[in-house]
Amino acid sequence: MAIKIAVLKETKPGEKRVAVVPTVAAGLERLGASVNLQAGAGRAATFADEAYKDASFYDTASGLVADADIVLAVQPPTVEVLRAMKVGSVLVSFIYSQTNPSLVAELRDRHVTALAMELIPRIGRAQSMDALSSQAALAGYYAPLLGAVHMPRILPMMTTAVGSLRAARVLVMGLGVAGLSALATAHRLGAITEGYDVRPETKEQAQSLGAKFVETGIDARGEGGYARELTVDEKERVQKALSQHIAEADMIITTASVPGRPSPKLISAAQISAMRPGSVIVDLGAEGGGNCEGTKPGETVTVGPATILGPLNVPSALAQHASELYAKNLLNLIGLIVKDGALKLDFQDEVIAGATLTHAGEIRNKVVRESLQAGKSLEAENA
Ligand code: NAI
Repeated sequence: MAIKIAVLKETKPGEKRVAVVPTVAAGLERLGASVNLQAGAGRAATFADEAYKDASFYDTASGLVADADIVLAVQPPTVEVLRAMKVGSVLVSFIYSQTNPSLVAELRDRHVTALAMELIPRIGRAQSMDALSSQAALAGYYAPLLGAVHMPRILPMMTTAVGSLRAARVLVMGLGVAGLSALATAHRLGAITEGYDVRPETKEQAQSLGAKFVETGIDARGEGGYARELTVDEKERVQKALSQHIAEADMIITTASVPGRPSPKLISAAQISAMRPGSVIVDLGAEGGGNCEGTKPGETVTVGPATILGPLNVPSALAQHASELYAKNLLNLIGLIVKDGALKLDFQDEVIAGATLTHAGEIRNKVVRESLQAGKSLEAENA
């Protein structure tokens, strides 16, 4: 019998993406799987049920997952859906363990093998499965567009019969996947671009996208290609070096994050008050609390001369393309665990081992296991 894959309809408010698009459903079938979806799963991402040619549809999530071998989703499913899953089945989705400890405990206790998309190792071989990158690239692309429609001025230089308008200055802070993508869009829209990051290797990457790099003299390379947190002294030095660039920017896009920590604060209230009238900050760090003082996650606020946008779940705004990329990331990952129409989990494979959060009644990820245990002992202490 073919392995059964179930695709959930997303239920988190504002989530328009779907884990599997029609072309990827066909790819999963080529791997020897049958694909079942919850009715209307792709609708918000522009994919009607009819577009999934050989798929079957279920009205409820619990009915859908009850006999599925693999369940696919974008956001972590609810505990109720988990409880309807078969013991020993596989879940592949974002899980965000740090904010969902009860879900992780349920996955463990139900003996579900959970592959968490945010745990895919950041190594060359896993790039085609790296949904953090695919979604961040889209969010970065979108940030200057969002900022542009909140600006009372245009981005490119324009010569008119009554004189020239100068090009806008766009400063991007945090040059990971999203930041570099934002720099590229802002440059294409005709802005003068500048980039800044605490990892010095980003200088060349920014320059290759036509941007100037803001030097601060700080090197905060951390583990695994990520940044580490800055010391108090380093933060002060950076603030000094950046103040003028912040004051001269018409738009700032912030994307800085440090794994497992709240978003670092890159722009202070004093720096915002010195910005140009009508300037805009697009804070892609809003999900983790924001990179600026004054950011209100999920809201657009005016603070002194600036408008600060704190958009949440930006990839969902581009649901069609975001779903296409996410689905391809999933297909490449499923290709590693489904062989000749059967499920084969090879924990010698570093991608599978790295992404496995729970398996056979255990929490396999050491960091998550320890932080859950620490949470438990805290609960016991407070009881
Ligand atoms: P991220 O979303 O964790 O962080 C975004 C950016 O914020 C990073 O460039 C980081 O250096 C920067 N940042 C952190 N604290 C900062 C501060 N105080 N001031 C200014 N900037 C600050 O990072 P993302 O985009 O997920 O990936 C970061 C890096 O990871 C990539 O540039 C690359 O080196 C590596 N990577 C490797 C992959 C692979 O090999 N498959 C895939 C994706 C990323």
